[in-house]
Amino acid sequence: MSRKRVLITGVNGQDGSYLAEELLARDYEVFGLVRRVGLEAPEHRLERLLPLLDRIHLQPASLESYAGIFNAVAKIRPDECYHLAAASFVSYEFDDEFSTLTTNINGTHYLLASLKDLVPQCRFYFAGTSEMFGSAEEMPQNEQTRFRPRSIYGISKVAGFELVRNYRERYGMHASSGILFNHESPRRGHEFVTRKITSGVARILAGTATELRLGNLDAERDWGFAKEYVDAMWRMLQQPIPDDYVIATGKLNSVRDFVRIAFQCAGLDWEKYVVTDPNFFRSGESVALCGDATKARQVLGWEPKKQFEEMIREMVETDCLAAGVALPAATL
Ligand code: GDD
Repeated sequence: MSRKRVLITGVNGQDGSYLAEELLARDYEVFGLVRRVGLEAPEHRLERLLPLLDRIHLQPASLESYAGIFNAVAKIRPDECYHLAAASFVSYEFDDEFSTLTTNINGTHYLLASLKDLVPQCRFYFAGTSEMFGSAEEMPQNEQTRFRPRSIYGISKVAGFELVRNYRERYGMHASSGILFNHESPRRGHEFVTRKITSGVARILAGTATELRLGNLDAERDWGFAKEYVDAMWRMLQQPIPDDYVIATGKLNSVRDFVRIAFQCAGLDWEKYVVTDPNFFRSGESVALCGDATKARQVLGWEPKKQFEEMIREMVETDCLAAGVALPAATL
């Protein structure tokens, strides 16, 4: 039997790189969609993919071009497609909410329309997000909870989610959405709070920084481990029937909890280094969101395994290694 062909958008992101690894291990032929500029400086722009570059195919295309997406799909003819690419940092959207909205919605639409016309049997995954719940009316949130997004990014994802549902119901496509709560790892982008904290700890330990400036320490999130979350994506596409699933740990922690544990890993007292900076506060941000992944556990046999503390330690260790410092022996 020939190898299954998979197309991943956002392949050079945190989730895309973990997913590419998992699918290579499952003997898929992996095609990643990247911006053309990424191919010009792979050592910088495709850093997370460097260990995989000789085993995956990179296809340059922009999500802003229907013709580009259509041609990429025509060339690859995937059996499965994971659509992970999006403008995804909640704070930046305010810089240009028009482009966040149009890029995220059109990219999803172009991809779905191309797959429907060229390879309608292709199974499709859409990266939804807890940001779609926004100011949710109930806690924890599950697949039945009403969406009340409070950010342009969240609104763009609700639109994408509805497009997916529409293509599934109208054209019978095997299209599913994962509603993923925050998920982190040593590969997380530095703009997100968890990586900002762990890399900040490493810099303080290495003596190249003396403080860490953060926003709201009372903000709470349901943080899981990214590598486990991409496994949930794969499981969704192996189901006989396409559907939508919440993927979450069901546990809330505050930014302060994360900070305390990360500094503890390095044998440091966080209160001596962390400075609260109003520039990093967000107005009108989503209330604390906590997911109920019962359906994923029952149908997909998926459940989160890595503990919060263990994940933080792994992130601090990786950043310390990169900064050239070892964690104090007493904390190991
Ligand atoms: N980034 C950042 N920087 N966040 C801070 C800071 C800071 O200095 N200080 C406090 N926070 C708070 C934010 O206000 C927010 O409540 C929380 O930390 C987490 O922020 P992020 O790590 O930036 O993630 P996010 O929750 O906004 O969004 C992430 O998760 C969503 C759900 O999965 C992103 O990955 C989204 O793309 C994703 O949809």
